Amino acid sequence: MKLNHFEKLKPVCPRCLRDRNRQTALKIGSSIQRNGDSIREGILLCPQSDCLMEYPIIDGLPIIIADLRAYVTQHVFSILQRGDLSADMEGLLGDCLGPGSAFDTQRQHLSIYAQSHYEDRDPKAEQGGGASLDESVLSLLENGLELAGERMPGTIVDAGCSVGRSTFALAEKSDDLVLGIDMSFGMLKVAAKILNEGVASYPLRRVGMVYDQREFPLEFEGSEKVDFWVCDATALPFADDQFAFAASLNILDCLQSPYDHLKSLSRILVPGGKTVIASPYDWTAGATPVETWVGGHSQRSVNKGSSEAMLRSLFAGGGHPNEIQDLHMIGEIERLPWTAKLHDRSVVHYQVHLLAAQARA
Ligand SMILES: C[S@@+](CC[C@H](N)C(=O)[O-])C[C@H]1O[C@@H](n2cnc3c(N)ncnc32)[C@H](O)[C@@H]1O
Ligand SMILES: [Zn+2]
Repeated sequence: MKLNHFEKLKPVCPRCLRDRNRQTALKIGSSIQRNGDSIREGILLCPQSDCLMEYPIIDGLPIIIADLRAYVTQHVFSILQRGDLSADMEGLLGDCLGPGSAFDTQRQHLSIYAQSHYEDRDPKAEQGGGASLDESVLSLLENGLELAGERMPGTIVDAGCSVGRSTFALAEKSDDLVLGIDMSFGMLKVAAKILNEGVASYPLRRVGMVYDQREFPLEFEGSEKVDFWVCDATALPFADDQFAFAASLNILDCLQSPYDHLKSLSRILVPGGKTVIASPYDWTAGATPVETWVGGHSQRSVNKGSSEAMLRSLFAGGGHPNEIQDLHMIGEIERLPWTAKLHDRSVVHYQVHLLAAQARA
């Protein structure tokens, strides 16, 4: 965790925010291991006497989550995962643990997102380092920034950044600090290794449980403006009016409550701040309870089950009873291609809906 980001972004205690609607700035309790101007291992503290929550910083990643016990229990595997085993040994352990294990699921996710974010920079990629970015998250971001138009200066958050490419891209295009947040400790570890060591390292799935470890030097201009934190996009631990721009690329259909995410975005944006939201609306009950899907059900309702119509209606003037008064839509693109490679012989092609919105000035 970079001290500069901590001081400028002033994260608040997510427990106080959730339980008491109170915005208490966190303090640095201890820095057990420092590396120049960043903390590699340490503890953040809530100073409120009726809270006193402690949030860990591990491998340079602060975990600022209201239900910390549940988070650590669910992610203990990636938090404690050692990084010193050879690719051969990881592969052998993967075979033992088998398909469906937390280990294999994590490797599949790392493979999909790291390849989609960094294949163009991989010297060994089939395309020889020139993979097309036309259907990548970068292209969604480019289109989103164009749609959003002029941006006011100020800090930027990339919600659900996974392994971080869009966060680095935002830093290349901005003078201000950029924060990538995600709930996946494993994905953020890949992003943090690029940021701190200039090395991309991830397993690339070939077939079944066969992965080729990819490792290559990787640096981005402006990366001194970037940091990565573990935060929940549905309960962002920041004071009101903190960020000038927020990206939310392909995460709406991965959340427990997409509505809470939109509300959280609208709360942390400064008046006049903008956000770009992209989603393929690939709803699954495993990720999002049907009750909170944005469309995708109730075909006979006024929105005829359309996710696009339902999302539009959630913004100011859209007519939804719970519309988010502070965010109004400023543009949209109905369909943009986005692809995810599952393994060497399988690619999923999505058509993403992209929408830009602005916080009321
Ligand atoms: C489909 S991926 C998209 C990643 C990236 N934005 C892209 O477009 O390539 C969804 C991401 O959302 C993250 N995520 C899921 N629930 C989240 C939450 N509550 N808060 C923050 N991130 C979350 C996942 O860990 C994953 O990295
Ligand atoms: Zn607190």
